Amino acid sequence: MGITRVPSLGLRKGSIIDIESTAKAIDECLNALEKLTGIEIMSAVVGFSGASISIINNHAVVAVGNPDYEITLDDKERVLQSARNIGLPPDKVIVHTIERQYIVDGYDGVKDPVGMAGSRLECEVAIILSALAAIQNIRRSAARINLELERVIYNPLLASEAVLIPNEKEMGVALVDIGAGVTTVSYFEKGSILYTAVIPVGGEYITKDLAIVLHTSLDEAERIKISSGVVSPEMAEQDKMIEIQNLQGRESRQVSQEVIADIISARVVEIMEMVYAELNSFGCLDRLYAGIVLTGGGANLTGIAPMAEEYLNIPVRTAVPENLRGIATDFNKPENAAVLGGAIYAARTVKMEYAENSFLPGLINKLTDWFKDLFR
Ligand SMILES: Nc1ncnc2c1ncn2[C@@H]1O[C@H](COP(=O)(O)OP(=O)(O)OP(=O)(O)O)[C@@H](O)[C@H]1O
Ligand SMILES: [Mg+2]
Repeated sequence: MGITRVPSLGLRKGSIIDIESTAKAIDECLNALEKLTGIEIMSAVVGFSGASISIINNHAVVAVGNPDYEITLDDKERVLQSARNIGLPPDKVIVHTIERQYIVDGYDGVKDPVGMAGSRLECEVAIILSALAAIQNIRRSAARINLELERVIYNPLLASEAVLIPNEKEMGVALVDIGAGVTTVSYFEKGSILYTAVIPVGGEYITKDLAIVLHTSLDEAERIKISSGVVSPEMAEQDKMIEIQNLQGRESRQVSQEVIADIISARVVEIMEMVYAELNSFGCLDRLYAGIVLTGGGANLTGIAPMAEEYLNIPVRTAVPENLRGIATDFNKPENAAVLGGAIYAARTVKMEYAENSFLPGLINKLTDWFKDLFR
């Protein structure tokens, strides 16, 4: 129904460093959203990222308990429990356990083994870990403004819901989300996430460098990047000059678009080097059958997909969230991938409860129908 966005000063490199100002930013965002939609917001699905994220792939085996070898919920829970049983340092928490697949008597690719016949049940899981403090800081920020947290979900999982198609996830695809403070690189195969890493640089890194080299403010550098930035000097218009204000915002001078592109290019190449290093460490470079999908605000940079494709020598597409219907087309921007993924996720899984008299019955029906209609 609406998307709102406010600057947040409480985060650095994707992690909360100041609860008070994070809470204030969330509050401002929600107030604007309430005004926009006329709906009071009590609870939220929250997407998060941060440099403390890691992923562990684990595998477990159990003997099926039932004497007639019918796999029960109890067997499934036992094998999952065993797969989740990793030595966890006290400062880490498991935020997600993704059931990648079950294997019944050696037959793999089973999504849900309950009710199947077999004597040996195996499961493969991907376990996403975060620093405990990072999750606690999200909870504290929400508590500060009395916002109930429905779920806290790792952003790339949300973004993948909004921008990847099932076929890509099946074949092998890397999702690269270039945000402001962080770039996340995730690899999906056989329908679910297998590897993920958070690189502590993003669009802000480019903006900061522009501000330093061009002797201007961060706001002005951000404005120039968005209005005139291109990813390489070859893409700049010949002789095109850009007006830049000095640090005090008074005098202005002219800088060629080519010089600006040169600065941007150096930082983007660095980010791509780091993306490549992560993909290489995942060991998935020769399995990227569906290529790389770029999303996040940084994917708006003119020319970034062809540049990444050339640099990485892997097919690259820029993705806007499209996996939902009935959404205003101006929401279809790469920077909305995670938030719209959150809407898809919530519509699918979170139980909607409405206060007795807050809606007319007719409106409730309309709302639930609308949610059902959300998926293709
Ligand atoms: N047209 C554009 N050209 C270049 N960069 C852009 C453009 N539009 C947005 N950006 C950059 O995208 C970044 C914001 O992206 P996004 O909204 O995905 O980040 P975020 O999710 O808030 O941050 P993070 O994921 O790091 O926590 C900013 O650095 C911004 O400068
Ligand atoms: Mg982001």
